[in-house]
Amino acid sequence: MAPLFASIQADMAKVESRLQSELRHTDPFVDELAQRSFRMGGKRLRPALLLLAAQAVGEINDDHHTLAAVVEMIHTATLVHDDVLDEAAIRRHEDTVNARWNNQTSVLLGDYLFTHAFFLASSLETTLGCRTIGRATNTVCEGELRQTAASGNFSLTRSNYFEIIGAKTAALCACCCQLGAHYANADPQIVRSLDRFGHLLGIAFQIVDDLLDLVGEEQTVGKSLGTDLAKHRMTLPLIELRDQLDPEQQQKLQSLLEEPNAENMTTLIDWLDRSGALQQARELANDYARQAIQQLANLADSPAKRALQEIAAASVSRCA
Ligand code: IPE
Ligand code: IPE
Ligand code: MG
Ligand code: MG
Repeated sequence: MAPLFASIQADMAKVESRLQSELRHTDPFVDELAQRSFRMGGKRLRPALLLLAAQAVGEINDDHHTLAAVVEMIHTATLVHDDVLDEAAIRRHEDTVNARWNNQTSVLLGDYLFTHAFFLASSLETTLGCRTIGRATNTVCEGELRQTAASGNFSLTRSNYFEIIGAKTAALCACCCQLGAHYANADPQIVRSLDRFGHLLGIAFQIVDDLLDLVGEEQTVGKSLGTDLAKHRMTLPLIELRDQLDPEQQQKLQSLLEEPNAENMTTLIDWLDRSGALQQARELANDYARQAIQQLANLADSPAKRALQEIAAASVSRCA
């Protein structure tokens, strides 16, 4: 996605140095952990959304740089904790903190990043940024909690699935776009459109993340895959497949899912592919991306608007 960030390159560089300078510490262990979280990058989608939303409706100012660093810190904290939940070994092409050290270190590093993010957000003159990010982060945690509770629930409905991904992923993307526009003094109606854009894009993004978890290349994606199956999670392709099967076949699917060994997983992926379930999930992701783009209809044409449109499309076509 990096080429789509051309119009915000200088601002992204500011955000990057902000992330690095904010988390420096005299204790070498604390310093290493915090720096490591950001060293391998990641796509930086959330700060980019925030800055592009600002640029699409007005001008980027220093509050945006602060907010962009905050949302990336929050996002990274959720990943550090998520890797404990998922018992994942690789993240951003490196060993996860839980694999390299242990779960205790991950819990504390995640807390360290969350609390630093709010400390930084509270330096803004107005409280809206801090409040909005607080609410969105709260919603992300709620989504992860609901997902944990749904583990092993073969009957998870589509609408439950969409509620979970709406909370765990779309809420933060929506918050980024909303704040970008708000802090650029956009009209409330435009702020709402961008909020909606971020939400719909976030849904498309997570559907594809769930597809990659099933059929992605670990080397390319740079993180442990297959964790949804290992954790007995019903994601969209599995829901699509389940809903087209008769009760007997559903029973067979359920027994495959209950024992996610290599052989069963190969059978399952083949079944998902042949049934068209993978393709159906991808088409749904495409629908969400298209709906996201429609939210931008009232914005004047600009490089930032075009970048937002292309990011929505790239959220679906991506391999990483
Ligand atoms: C991973 O997010 C977690 C999800 C919400 C799918 P990203 O795919 O944006 O992760 P990084 O920041 O690029 O590593
Ligand atoms: C986690 O979803 C989304 C978060 C809010 C952290 P996933 O568990 O699918 O994210 P990845 O695949 O590990 O990046
Ligand atoms: Mg995960
Ligand atoms: Mg995933």
